[in-house]
Amino acid sequence: MIGFIGLGIMGSRMAENLLDKGYDLIVHNRTKEKALHLLEKGAKWAHSPKEVAEQADIVFTMLANTKAVEAVALGEHGLLHNFGR
Ligand SMILES: NC(=O)c1ccc[n+]([C@@H]2O[C@H](COP(=O)([O-])OP(=O)(O)OC[C@H]3O[C@@H](n4cnc5c(N)ncnc54)[C@H](OP(=O)(O)O)[C@@H]3O)[C@@H](O)[C@H]2O)c1
Repeated sequence: MIGFIGLGIMGSRMAENLLDKGYDLIVHNRTKEKALHLLEKGAKWAHSPKEVAEQADIVFTMLANTKAVEAVALGEHGLLHNFGR
């Protein structure tokens, strides 16, 4: 299972390419609406970056800046809380 966090201009298209190639995808984005077209195509929704880490074997992030990366990685339900379980 591939995880993808950050579904803006770049990330949403990269994630869609992975889905179109047949990969299983679990996605998270701060604004859920931007994930809806991917969920319709079969991606699974994660409520937090932590939930992505719990279920994915590899995780891509495509975020705006360092502040966004810090929030996603180190926030209360951040990615790194469960990485390398
Ligand atoms: N677009 C391009 O043509 C292009 C070209 C080369 C390089 N890049 C680089 O690629 C990266 C992504 O660009 P983009 O165009 O995809 O940007 P974007 O459309 O603005 O998307 C930014 C993503 O970061 C998330 N984000 C921002 N602040 C956050 C925070 N505090 N906590 C959690 N998530 C946060 C946004 O979530 P929300 O959806 O909730 O706002 C969104 O998923 C940037 O580093 C950019 O410099 C972009």
